[in-house]
Amino acid sequence: MLNLINRVVILTIHLIPKFFIKIFANQYVAGITTKDALKTVKRLNDQGFAVTLDILGEHTNSKGKAELITKQYCDILAQININNLDCNISIKPSHIGSDISNKLLMKNIRILHEISMKNNNFIRIDMENSELTDLTLNTYKNRYISENNIGVVLQAYLYRTEQDLLQLKDGSNIRLCKGIYNENQSIAIKIPDEINSNYIRLLKIAFKKHIYVGIATHDIHLIKKVLDIIDKLNIDKSMFEFQMLYGVPMGNSLDNIITKKYRVRIYVPFGEDWYEYSIRRIKENPNISKYVIKNMFLIK
Ligand code: FDA
Repeated sequence: MLNLINRVVILTIHLIPKFFIKIFANQYVAGITTKDALKTVKRLNDQGFAVTLDILGEHTNSKGKAELITKQYCDILAQININNLDCNISIKPSHIGSDISNKLLMKNIRILHEISMKNNNFIRIDMENSELTDLTLNTYKNRYISENNIGVVLQAYLYRTEQDLLQLKDGSNIRLCKGIYNENQSIAIKIPDEINSNYIRLLKIAFKKHIYVGIATHDIHLIKKVLDIIDKLNIDKSMFEFQMLYGVPMGNSLDNIITKKYRVRIYVPFGEDWYEYSIRRIKENPNISKYVIKNMFLIK
């Protein structure tokens, strides 16, 4: 019954007024301004977490806006340095210009990469839908020379990912996630257990290639398997970190990780374009219907 109600909520969520979605969004988004976001970074750092900051938004359709976002990221990198925060940045290619031209994307990534190196920091290129996989990987490879402060994301649900991983240089830096976009079954695994098996296969390959892995999942079963592998293969703490999304309850999975004193980084999104991201997160919440009903009740 709960599953059915959840499915109905997922199918109708776009019909819910934006002001109402904003109430749910507050769980997953750290405010609108850079100042809001940096406050959250400081609070999380004080609790022992590293952070990666993401300015929300995607598919920017003007060169001017893509440049403004790039500049905002540059200012954030400077602020992180001045305030001595443990925080890097995550960037979506379509947010900084890939819909306009590959050249603009490359230029903006180059600016961000150079500024981040100047500030002794690191940039992560997020992975969007499969139409952008080649462009994203090429952009990363173009900037990656050796261990030089840049990383990319690979998605365990794509069949192609194993080949993509094998083609990365040893010593690269990836975030490994399951993948969030609704891809066609001809290119993406659809069965949750099979995605998890592929995740583990990919993780082992990455460790073998001395690739640094941001292990990005909240899935307690998967995390248990990952912890086993780390133990069995005796993987050094310097070769990985766990990554989780701001606002997603972490419960037992986090306890297990923290007991081992492994590094945990929280992905903190913020900004005016909070809607699409929040919808994605709300749809992934297994308690979505309970949550919606509870918040409706609070509103009254
Ligand atoms: P799964 O979806 O199976 O969730 C496991 C458990 O976590 C659930 O049973 C539930 O208990 C809890 N949970 C998960 N989401 C929740 C929510 N929203 N609210 C409440 N509870 C929730 N994807 C992508 O395509 N490109 C990218 O660049 C990134 N980047 C990224 C960074 C980081 C740090 C993370 C953690 C994830 C991403 N993702 C991503 C998203 C990722 O691909 C995936 O969609 C989500 O992490 C959910 O998958 P899980 O691995 O958590 O498992």
